[in-house]
Amino acid sequence: MSKAVAFDIDGVLLRGSVPIPGADKAIQRLQEASIPFVFVTNGGGMHEAKKAQELRKKLGVDILDSQVIVCHTPFQQLAAQFSGQKILLIGREDCIDVAQSYGFDQIVTPKILLETTPHLLPTRKTDVAHPSGGVNTDDIAACFIFHDPIDWSLEMQVLHDVILDSMQRPQYRESRSHLPVFACNADLVYATEHPLPRFTQGAFVESFRHLFQLTHPQAQVHIEYNGKPFAVQYRYAERVIHQTLVTAGRTEMPSVYFGIGDNPKSDIRGANNAGECWRSILVHTGLFQDAEGLGNDPHDPADLVFPSVLEAVEHIISTDLST
Ligand code: G3P
Ligand code: MG
Repeated sequence: MSKAVAFDIDGVLLRGSVPIPGADKAIQRLQEASIPFVFVTNGGGMHEAKKAQELRKKLGVDILDSQVIVCHTPFQQLAAQFSGQKILLIGREDCIDVAQSYGFDQIVTPKILLETTPHLLPTRKTDVAHPSGGVNTDDIAACFIFHDPIDWSLEMQVLHDVILDSMQRPQYRESRSHLPVFACNADLVYATEHPLPRFTQGAFVESFRHLFQLTHPQAQVHIEYNGKPFAVQYRYAERVIHQTLVTAGRTEMPSVYFGIGDNPKSDIRGANNAGECWRSILVHTGLFQDAEGLGNDPHDPADLVFPSVLEAVEHIISTDLST
């Protein structure tokens, strides 16, 4: 029986940009033991290759670009469905390039809309009034939240406008629904170099959802999440590991996947729900606060708990799965 590992990044291998002690050694130990592994982070906003480069540089380890799965990586699978159609993209500017590389070919952003639409945001007067009255949003087919919004008031307003407009279209009016909205990171907070947790994408999405419910109590806003703790991310991780093994000429596929993380609601819940072959491991180097002195999370308890990633990896290597 063979094993594979899915590492979370923030709070397990890095805190912000600072390496967590033992993280480099943990990766090297898996390489020596020929145990396949991937990185499954809810971070993103950049190409997978850039994230891999960042890991190589910060941890001094030798890893492949293909081993990195960021929160928006599964959006690649949706690009063909929206080919030739306009999408609203939310996230920092680098995401436009990422989305194009996935195959999205008509992208509009809140910033583009602000620059071309007079009176879009009362608090932000734009000098340039577009002669035609701005970019048309009637033909936006879907909204994709790629990464943490950087300008909440603008992004909230535009997302709200686009969803609301779509509700008037014949295909959505009858079913009282709206155009598809995809997000990819449900985490509210994450661990960085800062002593207290920092807001991330989920904080924006859930604030938006609440606001929309208050402004339109009759309507239901539906947001389709990718990223951890959702199954899509775990199926993607399994596929990448299989592919890596096939490329290496190995025929035996893993029977147990260990998901190592610091966020009980995200990493632990995700691995616990990912299926029989997944085991969750909580480490104490990130977000998890042991408020009740249990060492484990009472709501999303991990199968195993270790102080840090190196102890977790040593345990994985020494575990005999046949017993
Ligand atoms: O914004 C990133 C964050 O939510 C978590 O990153 O690596 O801990 O999944 P990670
Ligand atoms: Mg984490």
